[in-house]
Amino acid sequence: MSVQKEIRRLTAPDILARKKGEPIVALTSYHAHTAGLLDRYVDVILVGDSLGMVMHGLETTLPVTLDMMILQGRAVMRGSKQALVVDDMPFGSYEESPQQAFRNAARVLKETHCGAIKLEGGTRMAETIRFLTERGVPVMAHIGMTPQSINTLGSFRAQGRDEADWGKFLEDAQAVAKAGAFSVVIEAVAEPLARRITGEIAIPTIGIGASAACDGQILVLEDMLGLSSRVPKFVKRYGELAGQIEASIKAYADEVRSRKFPGPDHVYGLKPKP
Ligand code: KIV
Repeated sequence: MSVQKEIRRLTAPDILARKKGEPIVALTSYHAHTAGLLDRYVDVILVGDSLGMVMHGLETTLPVTLDMMILQGRAVMRGSKQALVVDDMPFGSYEESPQQAFRNAARVLKETHCGAIKLEGGTRMAETIRFLTERGVPVMAHIGMTPQSINTLGSFRAQGRDEADWGKFLEDAQAVAKAGAFSVVIEAVAEPLARRITGEIAIPTIGIGASAACDGQILVLEDMLGLSSRVPKFVKRYGELAGQIEASIKAYADEVRSRKFPGPDHVYGLKPKP
C-alpha cells in the first residue's frame, strides 16, 4: 500500500520562522502553468503587480487594478499546492486608510484563497499593517525602491547608496517589523544597508537587488528566464528563453508555410470500418 504524504501549504508564520535560517526562495508568477513549475522549488510565490509591466506592457505598475491582481492570484493558487502565495495590493487599493486596506485585502483573501498580501511603504504604512495583521491578514511589507512611488521617486534607481540617507530606510524597516509584517521585501538598496537592516530587525528580509545579506531572495520570473528585454543590474539570467521561444515560433511558421506541419502524426484518419 502506498502512503501518500499530505502536502501542506507554507504559511506566513512558517516564513517568519525562517529568520536567520535557511534562505527563503521566492519568485513571481502570474499564471497557473508557471506557478505549477515553481511550486516544488520555491517557498513563496509572489503574484506581483509587476504583472502590469511584464504581461500588459505598461510603463509602470500604477494602472494595475485589484481585479487584475485577484484574477491572476486565483490562477496561481490553482496552479500551486505547497508554496505560500502572496498577492500584491495594487496602487490606490490600500493607502487611503487602514479600513480601505482591510476591505480590499479581505477581498483578495476571500476571492483568491492566497495566504498573504504585500503592500509597499514603511513608516507611513505601519498603522495599516498593524490594523491588517490584528484582523487576520498576513502582510509582507516592501521598502527601499518602491515602484508604486515612481512619480515621487523620479526613477527606478537604487536607494541608500549614501550612508547619510540610511535613517529613513532603517526607520521604515523597524516600523513594518514592529507593526506585525511577517517579512519585508527590500528592493534595490546598497548592500551595506541591506546587511544592517537584516541584522537589526526581527522579521525575514527578502532581497531583490539588495544582496545575499538578506534572509531570502526574490526575482521577477520573466527577468531571470531571459524573457524581458531590459532588466535591472541586479537580475541574473538563469535562462535565455526569448531566443528559444522565437526559434520555435519561426520553425512553426516555416512549417505551416511549407505545408510540412501538420504531418501524418498530427492528423486524425477515418475510423477503421468494422
Ligand atoms: O511586483 C513585483 O513583482 C514585486 C517584486 C519585484 C518584489 O514587487
